[in-house]
Amino acid sequence: MHNIDNVRMLELPERGDERGNLVIAECGTDIPFDIKRVFYIYGSDPDVVRGCHANRRSEFVLINVAGSSKVKVLDGEGNEIIYILNRPKTGIYLPNMVWKEMYDFSEDSVLLCLASTHYDENEYIRNLDEYKRIIKESAQ
Ligand code: TYD
Repeated sequence: MHNIDNVRMLELPERGDERGNLVIAECGTDIPFDIKRVFYIYGSDPDVVRGCHANRRSEFVLINVAGSSKVKVLDGEGNEIIYILNRPKTGIYLPNMVWKEMYDFSEDSVLLCLASTHYDENEYIRNLDEYKRIIKESAQ
C-alpha cells in the first residue's frame, strides 16, 4: 500500500436552500483529521505551478471554493494522478509523503487548504530528487 493509494476525492455535504448554498467540512465525519491550520491561495496566474513539495507529517484537504485548479500527485515511484478541482463541495484528500503540484489556476480560483498540522517548514521536502530518494530508502 502506497500513500498515493489513499489520495481520494471527498464530497462534502451541502445544505442548500432558497437562500443559497452551505457546504460543511467537519472533522471526523467529512475531514479525516483534526484541522490545525487553514490557508487559501488566490491570485495565482494560470502558468504558475505551486506546491512542488511533499510533507513528512501533514495531511491536507484542498477545495476550490471558487474557480478551478488542477492537482498533480506523484508517489516518487513513477505513478502520478491528476485531479481537477472545480466544485465548492468537492475536495481532495492528500496524505503525508505524497508529492503535489497545483497548477492551471482559473482567474477566479480560491483554493482552500485544510491542514492537519501547524506550519513547520522542517517537515517540507521541496526537492523532488530528495523526495524520491527518501521514498526509495523507506521501501528497502
Ligand atoms: P509555499 O509552501 O511555498 O506555498 P505553496 O505550497 O502554495 O507553493 O508557501 C509560501 C510561503 O508561505 C512560504 O514562505 C511559507 C509560508 N507559509 C506559512 O508561513 N505558513 C503556511 O501555513 C503556509 C502554507 C506557508
